[in-house]
Amino acid sequence: MKGSGKRAAVVLAAGDGKRLRSSLPKVLHRVAGRPLLGHVIAALEPLGLDRVVAVVSPRIDELRKSDESLDFGSAGFAIQDPPRGTGDAVRVALEELGGAPGTVLVVPGDAPLLRTETLDALFELHRSAGATATLLTADLDDPTGYGRVVRGVGSAVERIVEHGDATEEELALHEMNAGVYVFDGEALASMLPKLDDSNAQGEFYVTDVIGLLRAEGLGVVAYKTDAVETSGVNDRAQLSAAGRFLQERACEDLMAGGVTIVDPQTTYIDPTVVIESDSIILPMTFLEGSTVIRSGAEVGPQTRIIDSEIGPGATVTFSVVRHSTVGPAASVGPYASLRPGTVLEEGVHIGTFVETKKTTIGRGSKAPHLAYLGDAEIGENVNVGAGTITCNWDGVAKHKTVIEDDAYISSDTMLVAPVRIGKGAATGAGSVVRDDVPDGALAVGVPARIIEGKGNRKKKKPSPG
Ligand code: UD1
Ligand code: MG
Repeated sequence: MKGSGKRAAVVLAAGDGKRLRSSLPKVLHRVAGRPLLGHVIAALEPLGLDRVVAVVSPRIDELRKSDESLDFGSAGFAIQDPPRGTGDAVRVALEELGGAPGTVLVVPGDAPLLRTETLDALFELHRSAGATATLLTADLDDPTGYGRVVRGVGSAVERIVEHGDATEEELALHEMNAGVYVFDGEALASMLPKLDDSNAQGEFYVTDVIGLLRAEGLGVVAYKTDAVETSGVNDRAQLSAAGRFLQERACEDLMAGGVTIVDPQTTYIDPTVVIESDSIILPMTFLEGSTVIRSGAEVGPQTRIIDSEIGPGATVTFSVVRHSTVGPAASVGPYASLRPGTVLEEGVHIGTFVETKKTTIGRGSKAPHLAYLGDAEIGENVNVGAGTITCNWDGVAKHKTVIEDDAYISSDTMLVAPVRIGKGAATGAGSVVRDDVPDGALAVGVPARIIEGKGNRKKKKPSPG
């Protein structure tokens, strides 16, 4: 029976993408946090296919091997050199797959809006119709540039004609070929040697396989989807449009899952981001990479969060957070910068113009204004006054600052690392602290003198939550 046995996918990605006018190959251009090719491969993953092979140029192969951020999961790669058309690219892929495997899905690497459900439906129609080939199409008001689906008697699919090769009459057809096909592998392999390049582009077109199959009386059916999903990216305007559609889709999916997004038009969320229900995303916010926003958090307006976790009930406003963790009910901003390695525990407050880096801050501690906290380990219920700086760099190496629980750091304190401020200790305003301060002591002056027993005299508050 057709359609049974192994299933493989071939992603065509070796074209040079001249219309982008770029030194970077087309399928490596990023939208919504991933290269175009990454979106296509991500849509294939849930299908659980036996093999996925991407056909790429030697340059793409070189770039993906040398750039760690280009991770295409378990996909295999085959090299097409030179790019002689989509039909030639499929031939290269079948060689890599070792001949003619059961059923072969062919997808273009420049179609980042394709959905897994649609590809699944295409396989299903192919199986239920017992077809030799099943193609994905859409009706477009303006199909300029795309191949057109030519139908014959009883509206059966007859062939595909490329825009550059079409007659006036064919150009008037509105049904476009999405460049996505499921083929019986053997039938596909048997037709590839029959392709020729006597066409407007002088290339071997995979689209011609459809006409060849029909000429032999073999069954070809089409599955129609919406215009947005089938859009390919061939120039920078289409690249930007694809980004917008992906962004709209991410927002719609999240809103359906119980997330409030106040203005999806100005909210940019990568498809890799996880947001729990009952959180609120305010306008002009960018959520990127492996970011996770827990339930009840409020993020934005005007906030960028990259590869970070925002805890339940936390708020982050007018701020930038990178590779960091914000604990439950913590608050960040306005105008804070949390640099990589920041960990804020429950109820921490980081306020206006505070920068942190590689720093852990314990439950209930605060740095409400104007501070730099780098390479520091800060305990619970610590108050960091305005103007405080951990002087972590001595011109040669970075050093650590430790501030223990219940310490009180007054305004404009310079903590010259390595240095330790003991439990319940305090510093005076404007002090330059070069030596460790024992528990309960007060450090004052420039350089600071140590006075035993005059530490934090502020009444201790109960810790939150
Ligand atoms: C192709 C289809 C067209 C369809 C459109 C949908 C053909 C001949 N035409 O046109 O009917 O409407 O997609 O988006 O197939 N590629 C290779 N090797 C090559 C040439 C291309 O791997 O030698 C890859 C490209 O990187 C790209 C994909 O195949 O990802 C499609 O190629 P592209 O040049 O974008 O074809 P279109 O003109 O868009
Ligand atoms: Mg294209």
